[in-house]
This record gives sequence, C-alpha cells and structure tokens, in this order.
Amino acid sequence: MLHFTRRADVVDIQSLSRSALEHKADPYAYPELGKQKTLGLIFFNSSLRTRLSTQKAAINLGLSCIVMNVGSDGWALEFEDGTVMNGGKAEHIKDAAAVMGRYCDIIGIRAFAGLAERSSDYAEQVLGAFQQYAGVPIISLESATRHPLQSFADLITIKTYQAVERPKVVLSWAPHPKALPQAVANSFIEWMQPAEVDLVITHPEGYDLSPDFVKDTPVIYDQNEAFRDADFVYVKNWSSYNSYGKILSQDMNWTVGERQMTLTNNAYFMHCLPVRRNVVVADAVIDSDRSLVIEQAANRVVSVQTVLAEILKSL
Ligand code: CP
Repeated sequence: MLHFTRRADVVDIQSLSRSALEHKADPYAYPELGKQKTLGLIFFNSSLRTRLSTQKAAINLGLSCIVMNVGSDGWALEFEDGTVMNGGKAEHIKDAAAVMGRYCDIIGIRAFAGLAERSSDYAEQVLGAFQQYAGVPIISLESATRHPLQSFADLITIKTYQAVERPKVVLSWAPHPKALPQAVANSFIEWMQPAEVDLVITHPEGYDLSPDFVKDTPVIYDQNEAFRDADFVYVKNWSSYNSYGKILSQDMNWTVGERQMTLTNNAYFMHCLPVRRNVVVADAVIDSDRSLVIEQAANRVVSVQTVLAEILKSL
C-alpha cells in the first residue's frame, strides 16, 4: 500500500480485514515494525479519536510519532501555484510538504472541507498537495470528502457484530446545529458498497449526497420505511451537497430515538463520534446495550494500526 486516502487504495480488502482481526486480537505482536521510523501527524482541524488512536497504534508498532496542529501553530500555507506571495500566507505547500517528508517516513493529514466551494473541496487540494510534494506515504486522517480510517473501523465493527450473513445497514441523516462535511457519509458508502451488506441511505429531500458516491445505492426519503428490519443503523449529519454546505432542515423528527429503533430488527446503533446528544440521537438509544459507538472508537486503533503496519512492511 502506497497511500491510504480512499477505499480504492486497498488492493485486497479480505487480506487487510484478516490482518485487522490479528491486530485486534494481539495489538502488541509487532513491537519492532516501526523501529527507527517516524510518523508525522498534521492537523488542520480538531480531533480526539483520530489523534489518540493513531498515536496509540504508533506506540504498539514501535513507531515514533510527531504531531503538529498546522492549522493553529504553523505558518499560513499557500496552495496556489505561481502566486506572488505578498499577502498573509508565509509558506508554500510545495516547500512545507517537502520538508515534512524529510522528517517523516509516513505522514497523516487531517484537512476538512471548507464547505465554501464544492469544486475545490472535492478536488482534495490539501491531501493532493501532500501526496504530490511530500515524497512519502500519506494516510488520510479525514479529508474534505472521505474518512477512510473511520470507515475501515466501522467495517471491522459490523463484521464483529453481524448475526446474519448479509445484514441490512441503514445510513441515516440526522439534524445538527452546524453545517458539517459529507466526508463520513461518503466514505461509509464507499466502504459498504463492496461489502457483503444491503446498504440503504435515508435523508430528507435536498440532502442527496454526491452521485459519484451514491451510485445505485437505494435512497429512501422516509426514515421510518428505511429503518424497517435494519440490522445496523449508522447515523450522521451532513450539510447539503447540491446547495453546497447549506443547512436546509433541522427537523428533529429525524433525531434517532426509540420510536425509529423499534422498527428495526433490534438493530445496533452506530455513530463515529463526536455526537450532539438529543439532537442527533436520544440518550436512550446511544446509552442502550445496542449502541456500538465506543466499540467503533476502540476499533479506530485497530484500523490505523493495520494500515500503518501494511505501509511499514512496504518501506
Ligand atoms: N470520529 C472521529 O474522527 O473523531 P475525531 O474527530 O475526534 O478524531
């Protein structure tokens, strides 16, 4: 594996999934794999799980880790080529990424969508610049359009808990007071489509995701109908893709509560966290014994450790 930024970067998902189960069973099996290697974690945005799970995975593999909150601590970066840099931006990404590549053997990047201009977000300008200029493997810690480490952890979680060969998995929009990117939803779809599950997407009209991600996955605008007989419900807010970055509805009827969960096949509840309780999901659901949110977060160590181990073996 050269980079890990999307599902298509995984050559053999069966092999990667087997490897994940081995890392989950014995996290300390490869304490020397990362010896004398350095992982750089570059954050343009906040994080709890991604930051700590990646550092924990690095420790398990004997990999040294350096972290920079470039969004708040670094020089303001210029991304446009050929710009006369006489404004507020002090350093070009070409130079910054190349320098970081000299300090690190692998670099992780977190850079969310700005939600101002769809074309530049979906062009993955920040992630792409690091892939172009750093000269080392890049792993996405959530980019403008995807969150593959979360989706891989979610896949591991579903595989661990599924009671039937082909479970019904529902991705449901829920309300939120702030405009959020589509990255988690896009990525979840991208990882579930080739998996052995029946995926259904549900959201209010106007919240359709990019057709490049949805493809032929069924979309149902009636949340109750979508939840019927579900084995897993994955709940997430996202802002509008067509009216880009806009909040079109904050309809609290979409807040997932016991009313919707009773329609399911005693489904497991999933959310990537952080979550706004009693806005996205009712306490009674997230605190129930069918909630997998803490297990999902625990599996973030497994997903990133598996990916780091795969890349380290190829260095
Ligand atoms: N789920 C997730 O990526 O959490 P953080 O934003 O806290 O890293």
